[in-house]
Amino acid sequence: MAKLMVANWKMNGNQAKIVQDITEYISNQLTNSADIVLAFPSPYLVIASNLLLQSPVKLASQDVSKFDGFGAFTGEVSATMLKDCGVSYTIVGHSERRMNNDETGSILLAKINNLLTNNITPIFCIGEAKRIRENGKHLDFLVEQLELLTQVTGKFDELVIAYEPIWSIGTGLIPTVLQITEVVNLIQAFVQNYLSCAKIRILYGGSVSGQNAASILEIPLIGGVLVGGASLKVDEFTTICSYR
Ligand code: PGA
Repeated sequence: MAKLMVANWKMNGNQAKIVQDITEYISNQLTNSADIVLAFPSPYLVIASNLLLQSPVKLASQDVSKFDGFGAFTGEVSATMLKDCGVSYTIVGHSERRMNNDETGSILLAKINNLLTNNITPIFCIGEAKRIRENGKHLDFLVEQLELLTQVTGKFDELVIAYEPIWSIGTGLIPTVLQITEVVNLIQAFVQNYLSCAKIRILYGGSVSGQNAASILEIPLIGGVLVGGASLKVDEFTTICSYR
């Protein structure tokens, strides 16, 4: 299965940069593929979707409301609306949202169910803080985060789980191959034992760069990468995509 390369722009960029970057990605052999996913801030999703109409590149949102459909929920953007804007994937459970927006398990569960109802694939993020790893409790902690998926009522056609250790996000610190392998094996075993889905891809995220992507993508069972900072540079993200 081809690797899935996801660009998480976070709260960065503007219209001009998005138009310019997408134009480059479309004309570039390495980045014009169905397994490339670009997650832009929500105001730009429609522009991006229109630019990507003829391209196999997929669009992601960085969040979705816990409410679905339409209604009196000021400021919320539903999965129904995201689907209408051409969104195929949505990042859920990113540590920045868990921490900054107090996103608890029940909120994440509602979001995942709404996405599945609307045929949008969740990119479910898990990851431990530095202190938890130092205390040797990271595997227990990650299993606890994964357990949420057993409560999902919708059906996963494709399941994407991103392992993003919090201590690695934006820090330049990368876990060792052994550390990533341990977690990837844990996720794989959990999915096999407790979940049913046709297709699963396990991503690694956290300080992925053009320099370290090749060694991460060589790890067996790694199905791709979730890239933050480095995805804002077209050349660097293109280099990362070249390792698929
Ligand atoms: P980073 O972010 O690549 O800048 O570390 C990754 C992420 O938060 O998804």
